[in-house]
Amino acid sequence: MCGIVALVGSREAAFQLLDGLRQLEYRGYDSAGIATVDASGRITCLKTEGKLINLTARVDEQGAPGRCGIGHTRWATHGKPEERNAHPHCSVDGAVAVVQNGIIENYRNLRETLQANGAVFLSETDTEVIPHLISAELSRWLASGETASGTLLLQVVQTVLPQLQGAYALAVIWKQAPGALVVARKIAPLLIGLGEGEFLCASDTPALASFTRTILPMEDGEVALLSPLGVELYNTQGERQQRMPTLLTGADHVADKRGFRHFMLKEIHEQPEIAELWVTRHLPQGLTAQMPVALPLETSFYRDIERVEILACGTSRHAALVGAYLLEQFAGLPTTVYYASEFRYAPPPLAPNTLTIGVTQSGETADTLAALTMEAKRRRAHGDPAYAPRQLGVTNRPESSLSRQMPHILDIGAGIEIGVAATKTFLGQLLTFYGLAMAFAAKRSSRSADEISALADELRKLPEQLRALVNLHDQRCAGLAHRFAAIQDVIFLGRGINYPIALEGALKLKEISYIHAEGYPAGEMKHGPIALLDAHVPVVSIAVPGMVFEKVLSNAQEAKARDAQLIGVAPEGPDTALFDELLPVPEMSEWISPLFTVIPMQLLSYHIAAHRGLDVDQPRNLAKSVTVE
Ligand code: F6R
Repeated sequence: MCGIVALVGSREAAFQLLDGLRQLEYRGYDSAGIATVDASGRITCLKTEGKLINLTARVDEQGAPGRCGIGHTRWATHGKPEERNAHPHCSVDGAVAVVQNGIIENYRNLRETLQANGAVFLSETDTEVIPHLISAELSRWLASGETASGTLLLQVVQTVLPQLQGAYALAVIWKQAPGALVVARKIAPLLIGLGEGEFLCASDTPALASFTRTILPMEDGEVALLSPLGVELYNTQGERQQRMPTLLTGADHVADKRGFRHFMLKEIHEQPEIAELWVTRHLPQGLTAQMPVALPLETSFYRDIERVEILACGTSRHAALVGAYLLEQFAGLPTTVYYASEFRYAPPPLAPNTLTIGVTQSGETADTLAALTMEAKRRRAHGDPAYAPRQLGVTNRPESSLSRQMPHILDIGAGIEIGVAATKTFLGQLLTFYGLAMAFAAKRSSRSADEISALADELRKLPEQLRALVNLHDQRCAGLAHRFAAIQDVIFLGRGINYPIALEGALKLKEISYIHAEGYPAGEMKHGPIALLDAHVPVVSIAVPGMVFEKVLSNAQEAKARDAQLIGVAPEGPDTALFDELLPVPEMSEWISPLFTVIPMQLLSYHIAAHRGLDVDQPRNLAKSVTVE
């Protein structure tokens, strides 16, 4: 989704802004722009439709002098992805330039009022009201005798912000304060970077990591003035804030393909390492029957929990569905998974002693964050301690908004994921749920120590098995991809713990290959979807030995009888000979099967999309972190 980079310092800003924007490309965008201000107060604003290469060429050609500037990659919400809608947006007199992430919900009213006062709008965006409002306010303050300065720009922005409804992260420059940058956030994320002789601001860590490791995540509602002299940070009440910066650790904040053709392929191949890291961290030697998994949660965390509700979107929701299966079937804990976007407006009646889990790899998904906030609020309002909010966040970004909002966090530790299609973070989320299921099973004595340790032993073997599986399916799926060249629809079937994997297989395929795909519980097919089947609609069926093995095989037979091409994700053997094509998985306990069956799903989608020559890492219309509702 949209990305912001802004900086002020002692070096020319334009190419640094472009460097920062390049690190945000993975978030998905359709146009880009920068604005710089030079010492004489000249603002240069350059923007282009499409990829950053176009903007870089424009900057090379026209130049953008100045040591202070703002940059943006836009993912269209209000108005088409055209140059005039790209950010930065400027005031009528060109004195103020603004970039913004998020959505200003009341922009129509603001726009009408501004137009009535003579403002001329050049774009269809919600953002454009902001430079107009700031510029009008600056004119008033200057007319009343104030002197132009960075502090004045800060004060004016603080005056304008309460007029904006919705979620935003923004950065502003003004030609009369060429060494000042004002930034602000409400709901949408923004981080300040403290560099050597320069101060930066960005909506995501990769854009800062090549400049500095010292960061200061902004809290909700904060505004800051950045100048070559330093950073002044203020809360919503206008009180100056002093906080220690934090250090970005690890090398994974910088995007690097490590020789793979795409980030997505690299990230699929990283999954065995992620499993290994997870096993080392969470299943070390010396665990007890009372706590068979090492999680950073105190004993009191588990006390009296009677049910779980999980809020998530997209792939994270699919991981949550596997999690719910484990929590209910392995740990005996009633669990319901909600689309966070639906939960916000139709929450279920409150039940006591409920743990609410928010799952979001980015930690910034607006719907998930808002649903969690809303749930905490209505629980607090209830008054009875049994209904009090008990929340846990599962994320890959411990520096994210989710982490700051949640009392407890489980970091899935998958390292930054650049491919828009989630793969390794999905595996990390699944592993986290295995950990939680084991912990709850032990706490609630819903499984014997032997059953729990059998599951732990299987998980310990996972890294090696995954290594072999990823390599095998990388080749197999590459060989199969050409068969999908002219395919328009694919059906994915799974049951029980593998039903969410069928959903995930379908989501992966549609988002990166643009082939229509749907996942169904295999037993549901005969209740409608079977009407779609013929020789042109392949069916991918997940069939692993266990409770529903024979049932899934029968459902696959039903598809075969309708001439569908059958692709099985199943162990090799006589039972699975019915499949026209087999993507084999090893024999394993059904409990851990999703950790295996998802691998061919990811690689099949990847190779089909790559074979079609599509932009696998940045599929059209998609964004890596969805920071708008
Ligand atoms: C699919 C995908 C999306 C995300 C969804 C939630 O590959 O990546 O469906 O899963 O947008 O994102 P997070 O996990 O960041 O909340």
